[in-house]
Amino acid sequence: LGKEALQEIKDADTVKALDNIRVKYLGKKGPITEVLRGMGKLSAEERPKVGQKANEIREEIQSSLEAKTTELEEIALEEKLKEESIDVTLPGKEIKRGARHPLTAVVEEIEDIFIGLGFQVTEGPEVETDYYNFEALNLPPDHPARDMQDSFYVTHDMLLRTQTSPVQARTMQKHNGQGPVKIVCPGKVYRRDDDDATHSHQFMQIEGLYVDKNVRMSDLKGTLEAFVKKYFGPERSIRLRPSFFPFTEPSVEVDVSCGICGGAGCRVCKNSGWIEVLGAGMVHPNVLEFSGFDSNEYSGFAFGMGVERFALLKYGIDDIRHFYTNDIRFLEQFKRA
Ligand code: PHE
Repeated sequence: LGKEALQEIKDADTVKALDNIRVKYLGKKGPITEVLRGMGKLSAEERPKVGQKANEIREEIQSSLEAKTTELEEIALEEKLKEESIDVTLPGKEIKRGARHPLTAVVEEIEDIFIGLGFQVTEGPEVETDYYNFEALNLPPDHPARDMQDSFYVTHDMLLRTQTSPVQARTMQKHNGQGPVKIVCPGKVYRRDDDDATHSHQFMQIEGLYVDKNVRMSDLKGTLEAFVKKYFGPERSIRLRPSFFPFTEPSVEVDVSCGICGGAGCRVCKNSGWIEVLGAGMVHPNVLEFSGFDSNEYSGFAFGMGVERFALLKYGIDDIRHFYTNDIRFLEQFKRA
């Protein structure tokens, strides 16, 4: 009986089979239990012998079962490990990495330049009141210059801001008439325009504002010149042309010398040698007063630039719509190594 059991245990190849063997030989209805139960019928002489033998066999089966169980468990573990092992020499799966959007990259680059010139970065709301977008900037309700910026109105006195200039007024108000104020403000702006290669109804601007005692036009020119040389390269220069904005007086349009222009046939500047990049001027006294600054004591300059324009010029992109159509083939080109 013992031998038979041991052979079966040896042949068993699953823990379940061992379990069955245990029930079969050592269970309540198994032969050993039966033998022990029948002990009463034996003579006093035979009883200890049979008892001892039965116990021996039981112990033998038991320890053999235990040993086999451990063995099977070890094999199972081994197999599992083998299955789960990683071949570190296999080539890895490539994880697609995104790229920073070119407009984000340009905004950050421009911010960094102005931070280097002592400006702080602020932000303002995209849904703006008519008051901040126009009135606080010296554009009363019937001012004809409102036509320059066709607007998306949300309610009759709320609109999607047409420019980042309202942040000028918001920031000055927070300063309670005390200078200096020296900020740049990037953000999205909206105008009712038909989209084409050079127009987008949504685009980005970066506003600049410096208000202090004795801020002069030469400070504006020097600041913009330093900025342009840093962004486009030291060989570039700027020129100022007279212009008009209701919130600056005098107002200028700022051109950068064309860096690509090799003479005739330049597509970037159409052979003029200059590219318009931003609007600027000395903060209008009314704007200072509206926002709580004494215009006899304080003066300031402001500027506003279109981010797309700076990106187009830097990367040689020919259509502003690329920035907003999310074509992965376009965006992928801005991955950094
Ligand atoms: N807000 C003007 C525009 O959108 C640009 C500007 C900003 C001009 C600040 C002068 C001063 O056209």
